[in-house]
Amino acid sequence: MTASALVAERAAMVSAAIDGAFDTLLAVPDDARAALYDAMRHAAIGGGKRLRPLLVRAACDLFNISPDSALRAGLAVECIHVYSLVHDDLPAMDDDDMRRGKPTVHKAFDEAAAILAGDCLQSFAFGILADEQTHPDPFVRVELVKALALASGAAGMAGGQAMDLAAENSRFDLATVTRLQSLKTGALIGFCVDAAAIMARIPPEGRTGLHGYARDIGLAFQIADDLIDVEGDAAAAGKALGKDAAAGKETFVSLLGAERAREQALLLVDQAKAHLHGFDARADLLRAIADYIVERDR
Ligand code: IPE
Ligand code: IPE
Ligand code: MG
Ligand code: MG
Ligand code: MG
Repeated sequence: MTASALVAERAAMVSAAIDGAFDTLLAVPDDARAALYDAMRHAAIGGGKRLRPLLVRAACDLFNISPDSALRAGLAVECIHVYSLVHDDLPAMDDDDMRRGKPTVHKAFDEAAAILAGDCLQSFAFGILADEQTHPDPFVRVELVKALALASGAAGMAGGQAMDLAAENSRFDLATVTRLQSLKTGALIGFCVDAAAIMARIPPEGRTGLHGYARDIGLAFQIADDLIDVEGDAAAAGKALGKDAAAGKETFVSLLGAERAREQALLLVDQAKAHLHGFDARADLLRAIADYIVERDR
C-alpha cells in the first residue's frame, strides 16, 4: 500500500470514530443549553482532517495501546483543537466567516455561543482524559492531563496565538516565527505523540525520537498551512485564504519565499522520518503522515 493510501484508509477510520464519539459526547439536552450543544456539534462534527487523533492512533501503534484509549486521547486533543479554531475565527482574532467548508460558529450562531462552545470543548478535553475509561492507571491519567494543559495554555497553543496576534504589529524574524509556530501548532502535535508514550509508560529518556519527529512535522505542518494560505484553493481548504499577508504577518513563506519554504518543509519531513529509525514497520503510519503533511491541499 502506498503511503498516501495508508493515510487515507486510517484517516477515514479515525474520522468516523471521532465523529461518532462527538455525536455521543454532544447529545443535545432538552433544556435551554440546546443552542450551546448545537454550536459545539456544528464546530466539532464533520469536515476536519482529524490529523491530531490520527497522530495519536499512529503513535499508539508503536506500543500496543488499545484502540479505545487511543481514540479517547485523540478525542481530547481534537476538542482542544476545535475550541482553538472556534476562538481563532472570532472577530477579535482572525475574523473569519468560513471554516471546514461551513460558516464559522459565530456566523452560524453568535459570538457568545462561539465563546461558550470553545470554553465547553476545552473543559470536555480534560474531563475525557481524567476519566478511567481513557486509562486504568490514575498516575497515567494525571500525566495526560498535565501534558495537555501545558500544550494548550500559555506555554503552548494559547501562548502561540498571543504571539500570532502580536505578529500583526511587529517584524518577527525567522527564529521568532519558528518559536511562535512551535507554540501555536507544534505543542498540540507534540502532545499527540507524547500521549502514546505516556499511556505506554515510556520514561522521558525513551521519548527523544518521538519528540524530534513531532517537532519536525509540527513545523512542516505549519509551513504547509502558510503555503496553502498563499497559493492554495479556498474551496479545497474550506476557509478563506490570503489572510496572513492581509494581516501583515511574517510567516515562513513571507520570510523565505514559497520555494525555499517548500524545500524547508520537505527537509523537515525527511528529518522527522530519520527520528523514527529505531522503530520497525509499526512506525509506517507515522512515516506516511509525515509525507502527507506537506502534500495536502487542505
Ligand atoms: C488548522 O488546523 C489550524 C492550524 C493549526 C494551522 P488543521 O489544518 O489541522 O485544521 P482541520 O482540523 O483539518 O480543520
Ligand atoms: C490557527 O492558526 C491556529 C490555532 C487555532 C491554534 P491560523 O489562524 O493560521 O489557522 P487557520 O489558517 O485560520 O486555519
Ligand atoms: Mg490565527
Ligand atoms: Mg485563522
Ligand atoms: Mg493559517
